[in-house]
Amino acid sequence: MELLLTSFLLALLLLLMVKKLFRNRGNLPPGPRPLPIVGNLLQLTSREIHKPILEVSLCRQMYVLGQGPKPAVVLCGFQAVKEALVDNGDKFSGRAEFPIVDLTSKGYGIAFSNGERWKELRRFSLNTLRNFGMGKRSLEERIQEEIQYLLDIFQETQGSLFSPAFHIRRSISNVICSVLFGRRFEYTDPKLQTLLDLVAENLRRVDNIWVQVYNFIPSILSYFPGPHHKLTENYQAQLDYAEAIVREHEATLDPSSPRDYIDAFLVKMQQEKKNPNTEFNLSNLLSSALDIFFAGQESTSSTLGYGLLILMKYPNIKEKVQAEIENVIGRTRRPCMEDRAKMPYTEAFTHEVMRFIDFLPLGAPHAVTVDTVFRGYTLPKGTVIIPVLHSVLYDATVFKKPHEFDPEHFLDQNGLFKKCEGFMAFSAGKRACPGEGLARMELFLYLTSILQKFDIRSDIPPEDIDLSPEYSGFGKMSPTFKMRFTPTLDIE
Ligand code: HEM
Ligand SMILES: *[C@@H]1O[C@H](CO)[C@@H](O)[C@H](O)[C@H]1NC(C)=O
Repeated sequence: MELLLTSFLLALLLLLMVKKLFRNRGNLPPGPRPLPIVGNLLQLTSREIHKPILEVSLCRQMYVLGQGPKPAVVLCGFQAVKEALVDNGDKFSGRAEFPIVDLTSKGYGIAFSNGERWKELRRFSLNTLRNFGMGKRSLEERIQEEIQYLLDIFQETQGSLFSPAFHIRRSISNVICSVLFGRRFEYTDPKLQTLLDLVAENLRRVDNIWVQVYNFIPSILSYFPGPHHKLTENYQAQLDYAEAIVREHEATLDPSSPRDYIDAFLVKMQQEKKNPNTEFNLSNLLSSALDIFFAGQESTSSTLGYGLLILMKYPNIKEKVQAEIENVIGRTRRPCMEDRAKMPYTEAFTHEVMRFIDFLPLGAPHAVTVDTVFRGYTLPKGTVIIPVLHSVLYDATVFKKPHEFDPEHFLDQNGLFKKCEGFMAFSAGKRACPGEGLARMELFLYLTSILQKFDIRSDIPPEDIDLSPEYSGFGKMSPTFKMRFTPTLDIE
């Protein structure tokens, strides 16, 4: 049934494409030969989303994907992506328009907004995430506190074989809850479970042919019933959830001592009350909070889980990180952010984890904010840009052995941490991930705290540990695995 409808829709899509064929597309670069009928749509719906795009990109730094009403320009390799996102930062800072966004956030919030709204909300969120206007408890303390709960759970496993994914996810989600809502949840709390389920369910729906098709021909599909209507219902439930928390905050707000992101936003709303064009209102508060909740969740917990798996696969690398922890932090006091600068190997290791696992291989789609001349081509305002982060993180002109896991990629001859422009796991330029600072802080504190207290081991021999990701519709997730946490000797 679904297949039948899909074929029907694809036929309509063909009609539409023929109609649009004569429309002005500016002077766009050439693209790969589209498959008959569906253009490049089918290529985009494969599970390993970046594979087909990369096959073309191996030979070209820039090409057009899709012959439909909205062709996208694909950028590959460090040079092309940097020239666009960094050297032409403003022009390439737009977010592509997704018709499915009309069904969900309607363009409120940070992640899917554009123009003044995006600028203001982003500046505010970056400042808040840097600890300004969020009261006395620092991000570092919030993370350290949450780590303790996780360590206690690992301790209780008493070295038995255990799958840590669930608890890692809950713990990372609590860090975001602490930042946004000023509170944590018990790992089994049904209220948190509800929100997480809603977010996960919408992700599954986005990962669905209906929505893919809808993105190409919104006006036609909105007449058909389909799972995309669930998307709206589901997003509304998330808004209701967030609104209830905002109301609690309003009732207990002390503007002189904001407790979290929501308080900081409420204070900003009061300050901007007299400005009729302000972006600081309830719609943007709810969607910004949900954007951060969603963006800061799976990305960070998947990276942390992957980090543990990689440590077990490469025991010699694990020993080097352990030795650095032993030398710089010791066994008794808890790791803190001051330690990071003294731990170049650990810092290189976490960067290499993020490079190697390549969480968002296609990045997030951008758009040019004005008509833009780029590398001799004219890209009309609004043209969708796909910066293929995978092609940067695996660019052999930047990283010596891109297909191998090697922290040396981020170390100089003296063993000091080496910053690298090609490190674009968080993208680059004006639209780069605003959670990078928080995510890197979390990864450093979690990994060092876990390795300080436990030796970690798999029952599978290192050479047989499989690092292949599990693909979701948008990214590469950590595979699930079991491991043992053996307490290191306490010498207190
Ligand atoms: C290892 C963890 C993370 C990775 C790999 C990651 C990666 C990314 C990437 C590649 C983008 C797309 C940037 C672009 O449009 O070019 C992004 C956007 C975003 N991330 Fe993250 N992220 C991580 C953690 C976080 C955290 C912890 C937060 C929350 C504090 C967060 C919040 C956001 C938001 C709000 C956006 C949209 C920004 C905008 O459109 O202006 N991310 N992230
Ligand atoms: C928030 O502001 C935008 C325009 O800046 C407006 O469209 C929206 O309706 C406002 N939302 C609320 C709840 O006032």
